[in-house]
Amino acid sequence: MTTRLDFSHCMSSAIGMEHGLMEPEFAGMHGRLHEAHAGVDRLWTSGKLGFMDLPNQTDDAKKILAFARKQRSRFDTLVVLGIGGSALGNIAIQNALKPLYWNMLDSEERKGAMRLFVLDNVDPAWTAELLSVLNLKKTLFNVISKSGTTAECLSTYFIFRDAVAKTVGAKRAAQHFVFTTDAQKGYLHDLAIKENSPTFDIPSNVGGRFSVLTPVGLLSAACTGVDILQLLAGARTMAERCKTSSLRENPAAAYAALQYLYYQKGVKLSVLMPYSQHLWSVADWYRQLWAESLGKKLDKHGKVVHAGPTPIKALGVTDQHSQAQLYMEGPYDKIISFLSVDDFGKKLPIPKVDPTHYLSGRTLNELMKAEEEATRSALTKAQRPNLTITVPAITASTLGELFYFFETAVAYMGELMAINAFDQPGVELAKVYTYALMGRSGYESQKQELDEQRQRDQEEAHVV
Ligand code: PA5
Repeated sequence: MTTRLDFSHCMSSAIGMEHGLMEPEFAGMHGRLHEAHAGVDRLWTSGKLGFMDLPNQTDDAKKILAFARKQRSRFDTLVVLGIGGSALGNIAIQNALKPLYWNMLDSEERKGAMRLFVLDNVDPAWTAELLSVLNLKKTLFNVISKSGTTAECLSTYFIFRDAVAKTVGAKRAAQHFVFTTDAQKGYLHDLAIKENSPTFDIPSNVGGRFSVLTPVGLLSAACTGVDILQLLAGARTMAERCKTSSLRENPAAAYAALQYLYYQKGVKLSVLMPYSQHLWSVADWYRQLWAESLGKKLDKHGKVVHAGPTPIKALGVTDQHSQAQLYMEGPYDKIISFLSVDDFGKKLPIPKVDPTHYLSGRTLNELMKAEEEATRSALTKAQRPNLTITVPAITASTLGELFYFFETAVAYMGELMAINAFDQPGVELAKVYTYALMGRSGYESQKQELDEQRQRDQEEAHVV
């Protein structure tokens, strides 16, 4: 059994005419999706959408597995230094497929696989705290940056490179680093050559947030013992289902059609709510994929559109006690996607501590499922559009399906919205300002601009 998408609760038959979709409305998207599918295909055949080639790259995955196996005999901990698309997929895989307290298990319990820490921030306190708990002699660092220039990644690299050299000696320090970066250019690329460190390439036609199935996500997964070939196999299963443009057969096309229809109706917020602690980080990964891909100022024709649904992550059941009130009674501006799991892989009975209590003798599995169904039914009764994506179990294969499903849906959304889903011009300016503030040469005019702004802010301050 594979991933399934149930969107009955988006239809007017379930949530009424005012907020639900009419059958012809949904079916009317068939032509648009056909065009979007063809557009994505064109981008792929012109070599621009490398993420669609990844499910078949099993030879590369085997090389990664061989490398990971070798490292495991020397190192017991892997630290990923990266940010955004160079970290979120790693965290999603780890939290989905490994016990959530993996790093607390000893080597025997981990069957020799490595611990994993992903440092995706430059918070000095967090970084210092990580540094203080690592045994650097037994730690390998995977420095990940597609551009090879990202300040967050490079700054933490410098910190850990220095610490490792102080611990194991300058000559041996380089052996503790493996780089995942562009094959041709960038600071990291040049550094890896200089240091004679192992490197893995990120294909130039795969953008950061689409790179989870490249060495970006696969190397750390392999080091912690994830079956990365199954991740790719799952992605292949989904790719196969996405070959057709039919809304009734291609789940990514149906998902994109629903998201697009609601967006057009003014439903601008899209919530992804996994009912699984293990899938929580998948929602985080999805949030970046959705936001950076679809939040755009210009459409493909250069027209100012300021488009983009806002992705929101929520966790079942936890956020029933935090967000559900808003989703039930707040504005009709959200579509909620439940991410559901049939089989949690573990069954936990609720002991008969008080045999008269209604929970006695039931299981946490039953309670989790009941809460999910109850929330779905309540939202449906309140005429809130919701859909459910279900995986039979959380496995490497179903996770691979999910990654490919969301990536393909985003690609269709880009076509439907007539925007470029594969660039991120909006994050550039803040990067440039950071360079200016940190004194990078070539950014003197931006530094002056910021100084002037600081001056104006001081003169016209409104601070309480
Ligand atoms: O999706 C993207 O392109 C971004 O989120 C990048 O992954 C992020 O900015 C990190 O960039 P890099 O991998 O070049 O360090």
